[in-house]
Amino acid sequence: MSSNKASVHGQWSSRLAYILAATGAAVGLGNIWKFPYIVGENGGGAFVLVYLVCILLIGIPVMMAEVMIGKRGRKSPSNAVRALIAEAKAKPFWRLTAWMGVTAGFLILSFYAVIAGWAFAYIFKAGSGEFVGKDAAQIGEMFGNFISNPHELMFWSFLILAMTGVVVAKGVQKGIEKAVGYAMPAMFILLIVIAIYAAKYGDFAQAFNFMFAPDFSKLTINGVLEALGHAFFTLSLASGVMMMYGAYLPKETSIFKSSIWIAIADTVVALIAGLAIFPIVFGNNMEAGAGPGLIFQTLPIAFGQMPMGILFGTVFFVMLVFAAFTSAIALIESSVAWLVERYSFRRWQAAMISTTVLWLLGVGTIYSFTEASWTQFTIFPEQKTFFDNLDYLTSKLLLPLGGLMIAVFVGWVVDKKVAKEEIDLNEKAFKLWHFVLSYVAPIAIIYVFLHLIGLA
Ligand code: PHE
Repeated sequence: MSSNKASVHGQWSSRLAYILAATGAAVGLGNIWKFPYIVGENGGGAFVLVYLVCILLIGIPVMMAEVMIGKRGRKSPSNAVRALIAEAKAKPFWRLTAWMGVTAGFLILSFYAVIAGWAFAYIFKAGSGEFVGKDAAQIGEMFGNFISNPHELMFWSFLILAMTGVVVAKGVQKGIEKAVGYAMPAMFILLIVIAIYAAKYGDFAQAFNFMFAPDFSKLTINGVLEALGHAFFTLSLASGVMMMYGAYLPKETSIFKSSIWIAIADTVVALIAGLAIFPIVFGNNMEAGAGPGLIFQTLPIAFGQMPMGILFGTVFFVMLVFAAFTSAIALIESSVAWLVERYSFRRWQAAMISTTVLWLLGVGTIYSFTEASWTQFTIFPEQKTFFDNLDYLTSKLLLPLGGLMIAVFVGWVVDKKVAKEEIDLNEKAFKLWHFVLSYVAPIAIIYVFLHLIGLA
């Protein structure tokens, strides 16, 4: 088997196209919505440091392993893994590596589309001046009313999923590449604009201090697990995405170099997002630890009081939608490709089936904020709503455990020679990568879990 042949679904037109698409997958709500609020909840600098270590030591090596599986197998994750299992004469058990990922990706998209829908709706709220002159209580009430109206939320998540479906139906080059080619540069420019605005009108010094001065007394083991899970989430690892995008990689593209670029771009965006949001939060004397409502409640209060807040508030939410959109595209692609491979559907049929199921599943998240029966729903410790449990199951369990399986599969099961053929590193660097993947990453992940359940 060789990775010369293209996948049946097509192939990226260039190295840059791949990097843009994969960066688009990585950069999303995770960077702009989630990263700042979990940094806020976990006390700032120390958490940021642990997160950076996780990206470097675990995220990048696992990303390379995943892209390698895709590139070798040239198919949707389950079939790509299957091909590698055959090549290694390994047990079918390892197919779980792909299935866990694709399942996690699917579940993530079901709530991702809902939150992206919030952002979409907030473009119009910001643009029509709804935040102007409102105090915290009024903005809180506005958010409360908004998320307790299921029909409206179903409309917005429908819109996001429909847009995603249309792009993915058009295929790898004509759909995904084209959409990402517009959305990513636009998103980045808008983010810079917001950061400059925040530095000018907010409290930049306090924000900088909060994010980069580590206070380890504020870090808990749960915080460490959260940083680990978020490293996977933000790089779109263990969710089928990187395997899928790797399957479309032109042969000559370097897995190592492109992975480094993607990780750097993703990290830079998260840090800029923090440096754009916290100055606004602190400059207006607000709390950093507001949780998931941080950018939907805290920021609007600030925008409502700041000069040119209508304009910049609108720009902020447009930017957020662009970021989320390119991730949603990535999240759905592996299900679509799998349906095409497995049942010979056309792409548009597969896209329609996936978006419909996702939309229905998303209702669970929507009801998590409104219906009593869904808001009292505890499966995992301390998780109260259906959405909380979904988030816990995916980010804290499936992604880290999926990452563990990928590391072990590529590190221990796949033949070293096969990995070497796909990963273009010199002898020394390859050995280092293989060592980190086989030992450091699995031990670190297992350690965090053992610690969590009180055994280490
Ligand atoms: N990485 C995306 C983000 O940070 C989320 C995501 C997770 C996308 C998993 C694809 C797969 O928003």
